Amino acid sequence: MTINDIKLLELPCHRDPRGSLSFVEQNNHIPFEIKRTYWIYDVPGGKDRGGHAYIKTSEFIIALAGAFDVTIDDGKDKHTITLNRSYYGLYIPNGLWRKIDNFSSAALALEFADTLYDRNDYVEDYNEYLMMKLNGEI
Ligand code: TYD
Repeated sequence: MTINDIKLLELPCHRDPRGSLSFVEQNNHIPFEIKRTYWIYDVPGGKDRGGHAYIKTSEFIIALAGAFDVTIDDGKDKHTITLNRSYYGLYIPNGLWRKIDNFSSAALALEFADTLYDRNDYVEDYNEYLMMKLNGEI
């Protein structure tokens, strides 16, 4: 996978005088079967999350509240996307280095994944990631 495989999707948004409603469906807006959902919140100013790659896991990230930057790196190129609207979702396929930072106050990151939690799926050392990428192991 390369940074060209990430996708920023505008999600349905139903606005009316009572407020707004957005939604996602698996195998539709989210291009996989959802096995796990987690959320990141209460991130202190200046802290970042992620800083790893997944071997098998693909994810879909929504900034439900606030804003943050997602940086994707495929070993050759890097791309940073700011998520700051709850009706956008970012699809990140497996095999890419990812970092999330610049969290605004009260930011809430909702993440859907196509795997159950498995620490063995993480590559946490950037040089190891580059080697794996070179060898076609990720
Ligand atoms: P971690 O993956 O290090 O967070 P980040 O990707 O933001 O750097 O996860 C933090 C902790 O939460 C770690 O102890 C593992 C645990 N965790 C789960 O138990 N289940 C999960 O689905 C996730 C994503 C993390």
